[in-house]
Amino acid sequence: MSDQELDNAPARPMRTVKSFVMRAGRMTEGQKRGLDLGLPRFGLDLEAGLQDFDTVFNRQAPRTFEIGFGMGHSLLEMAAAAPEQDFIGVEVHRPGVGALLNGLLTQQLSNVRVYSCDALEVLRQCVPDASLDRLLLFFPDPWHKARHHKRRIVQPEFAELVRSKLKVGGVLHMATDWEPYAEYMLEIMSAAPGYRNQALDGTYVPRPEERPITKFERRGERLGHGVWDLKFERIE
Ligand SMILES: C[S@@+](CC[C@H](N)C(=O)[O-])C[C@H]1O[C@@H](n2cnc3c(N)ncnc32)[C@H](O)[C@@H]1O
Repeated sequence: MSDQELDNAPARPMRTVKSFVMRAGRMTEGQKRGLDLGLPRFGLDLEAGLQDFDTVFNRQAPRTFEIGFGMGHSLLEMAAAAPEQDFIGVEVHRPGVGALLNGLLTQQLSNVRVYSCDALEVLRQCVPDASLDRLLLFFPDPWHKARHHKRRIVQPEFAELVRSKLKVGGVLHMATDWEPYAEYMLEIMSAAPGYRNQALDGTYVPRPEERPITKFERRGERLGHGVWDLKFERIE
């Protein structure tokens, strides 16, 4: 390419640092079944672009978006407990996607749709503005080392992206068991425009009942570990 061609070439999009590393993982038979039979029924494609979720679910219902559902335990429990609501789950870890899909088939749930890719791309490309009632981020990877903090999913740009996708009155609910990450979330979210912290004292909310308690959290409780919940409401 000549210098002039280089000057005229469209700027390459900035490399975005990912909040995850793809892990190779062996699949159980159940997870394979989930992917084989569940993806065609519940899977959505990033490449399909912007979605009208009323059409996808064939109804108008309160809508929750969960980033990084892991093995899907909380998402399954929430969806089973609230059949009148719709849920969109996004996870990059394939065995986790298989596990969730297998659970949806076994429990015969129809109020969940699943993306198997980067949730930030899904938010940017597939989710209409002001269309979500809740966005959940439970126990995101804490990226402990200072030089890895840039990989943390919670950043000022994340707060702004999420705000644009929540309805006014919609809530970003985050939970973490790593206190320095909780403090970091609080700092980023308190500085983010257009939100109100639902905690009365401006810090953390008491553990909300609607967040299912996981085995991992129960074990942490026994060991005396803390969990911090943050809820920020879009106000403008
Ligand atoms: C520490 S695990 C927590 C899983 C689950 N929420 C729980 O509470 O058990 C964090 C998960 O987020 C996923 N993840 C991280 N960044 C993601 C992204 N940008 N899009 C989708 N999933 C992501 C990881 O693959 C991982 O499974």
